[in-house]
Amino acid sequence: MAIQVTENMEENKIDRLLAAGGYTADEIGMSGSSVLLFEDQVLKIQDDSAEAENEYLMTRYLQGKLPVPAVYAYKKSDGKSYLLMGKCAGEMACSDGYMENPHIQCKLLARGLKMLWDVDVSDCPSDQRLQYKLKQAAYNVEKGLVDLENVEPDTFGENGFANPSHLLDWLYANMPKEEAVLSHGDYCLPNLFGRGEEVTGYIDLGRSGIADKWCDIAICYRSISQNYSGKYSRQAYPGYDDLLLFRELGIEPDWEKIRYYILLDELF
Ligand SMILES: Nc1ncnc2c1ncn2[C@@H]1O[C@H](COP(=O)(O)OP(=O)(O)O)[C@@H](O)[C@H]1O
Ligand SMILES: [Mg+2]
Repeated sequence: MAIQVTENMEENKIDRLLAAGGYTADEIGMSGSSVLLFEDQVLKIQDDSAEAENEYLMTRYLQGKLPVPAVYAYKKSDGKSYLLMGKCAGEMACSDGYMENPHIQCKLLARGLKMLWDVDVSDCPSDQRLQYKLKQAAYNVEKGLVDLENVEPDTFGENGFANPSHLLDWLYANMPKEEAVLSHGDYCLPNLFGRGEEVTGYIDLGRSGIADKWCDIAICYRSISQNYSGKYSRQAYPGYDDLLLFRELGIEPDWEKIRYYILLDELF
C-alpha cells in the first residue's frame, strides 16, 4: 500500500488518536518500546533508530506480499518514532491455545518461515546479512549496549566467552555461508500471529530484510524452547519436542548455524 499522505496529515492522525485516549498498553515486548492497543489499530512508539525506521519501511514494503499490518501513519518527533498500524487478527504463537497444541503451533511457525522464504527479495530495501549485522554488533559492543542481564546462562563466563568483545571476534572468525532469503530478523513466538495453521500477521519487523534462512530458524528454535520452559509465564508447558519444527519444515537441523545465530543475537 503506497502511503502518500503528507507528514502533517500523518502527525495529526497520530496526535488526534493519542489525545482521544481509549487504548490499553501492551506489556509483552522486550525492547523498551511502548505499544498502545486501540480498538482496531496499534500505535508503536520507540526510540528513533535505524531499526525503528526499518520496521516502518519493511512493514510497508511487505504490504500485499505477506500478512503484515496495514500502515496508517508514521512520524518521528523528539527522538521518538511513531508507527500507527492495523491490529493483527488471530493470536500470538505463544498464546495458551498454541502452547497447549505444539503440533499446530509448529505447523504455524513452519508455514510462517516458508512464506518468508517464498518472497522474492530482488527489490527488498533492507539487507541484514552478516556484513551489516556484525558491524552493528560491533557498535553495540563498543558502546556497551549489550544487555548482559538478558543472555543465555552459558554464553558468557566459565563455560562460555569471556566477554562480548571475545564473542564478537569469534563471530567474525566463524561467519557461515549465508543462504539469502527474506528474514524476519526476530522470529520469536510473540512476533507471529496465527489462527490455527494460518499466519495472520508478522509484526516487529525492525530487523527484517535479506539474511540467511538459518537466522530465523535459530531464533524460532530458541523461542520455542524458552516458552515451553516457562521462562515467560508462570508455568512450564508439557509437550516440548525440539525436533518438531524441523519435521514440519522437512529439513535437518544445522546445529552449528543455529548456535551461531543464537550467539549473534546475544549482542543485540
Ligand atoms: N499490529 C499488532 N497487532 C496486534 N498486536 C500487536 C501489534 N503490534 C504489537 N502488538 C502486540 O504488542 C507486542 C509488542 O509489540 P512488538 O512490535 O513486538 O514490540 P517489541 O519490539 O517491544 O517486541 C506484541 O508481541 C503484540 O502482543
Ligand atoms: Mg516483539
